[in-house]
Amino acid sequence: MSFKNKTAVITGAGSGIGKSLAQRFAKNGANVVMLDIHKDVVQAAADEIVANGYSAIAVPTDVTNREMVFHAADQAVQTFGEIDIWVNCAGYSKILPFLDCTQDIWDRTIAINLTGTFLGCQAAVTKMKGHGGSIINFSSQSGKKGTNNYEAYCASKFGIRGLTQSVAVEFASEKIRCNAICPSVVQTPMWDAQLSDYAKKRHIADSDVMPRFIHNTPLGRLCEYDDIWNLVEFLSSDLSSYMTGQSLNLTGGACMD
Ligand SMILES: NC(=O)c1ccc[n+]([C@@H]2O[C@H](COP(=O)([O-])OP(=O)(O)OC[C@H]3O[C@@H](n4cnc5c(N)ncnc54)[C@H](O)[C@@H]3O)[C@@H](O)[C@H]2O)c1
Repeated sequence: MSFKNKTAVITGAGSGIGKSLAQRFAKNGANVVMLDIHKDVVQAAADEIVANGYSAIAVPTDVTNREMVFHAADQAVQTFGEIDIWVNCAGYSKILPFLDCTQDIWDRTIAINLTGTFLGCQAAVTKMKGHGGSIINFSSQSGKKGTNNYEAYCASKFGIRGLTQSVAVEFASEKIRCNAICPSVVQTPMWDAQLSDYAKKRHIADSDVMPRFIHNTPLGRLCEYDDIWNLVEFLSSDLSSYMTGQSLNLTGGACMD
């Protein structure tokens, strides 16, 4: 699908899912505005897209910082005219027993995942007023069902669903749609960093973690970058013009609620 003359802002675009979405939006003609807290990493990711002949800029941004998020939105409009799509993808995840979850870890998880998405929605709505647009938030299958050793992450991802529904209702009349995606496991740097913690939590070997997820998934495989793109592409386009406030499972049948 062509996103020519469209501008997509993506947070957490330096790595994993956010980076892969930036590449795909750019390949499909969009102007891409890439936000990430890791300055050099996000700049390198944007440079790679530009070197391939597509349109992208990097704006180093901490999504927990309102001023930086709004500055990034201004940069997007100054560079490309207007914002059509805003994807809140920046995220943080820590697996650990509930009683070991310090307030620092709790605050960090809520700040990046939930407050970051809140600020992204506010900045997006501010710039989409008058012409409409599509906001896509990253929840998770952990935003549909609680899991042990994952309280802060689950709470943040459940919160994103409530935020998504409320923003959807409030701005539907302005043609600003807001939906969330709830994926199962995608093998990204986030998972590389927490695989051992998960293995310990389940008393299994590191090498058994992914096969176990696959075994528990009716469609028999992990979620892939292309699966994410297919849904993001749909939610970003007019094909989903009658959908707002939804939190869509992308779990190979593992989650049906
Ligand atoms: N990987 C999965 O299995 C999975 C499943 C469901 C949902 N998700 C969600 O998808 C999103 C992307 O996850 P991923 O697996 O690609 O993770 P990742 O760790 O590979 O990428 C996350 C990115 O967010 C950036 N980031 C972290 N804190 C930030 C901050 N304060 N400001 C700006 N950027 C910040 C990081 O630098 C990184 O580039 C997250 O919201 C995650 O919760 C992931």
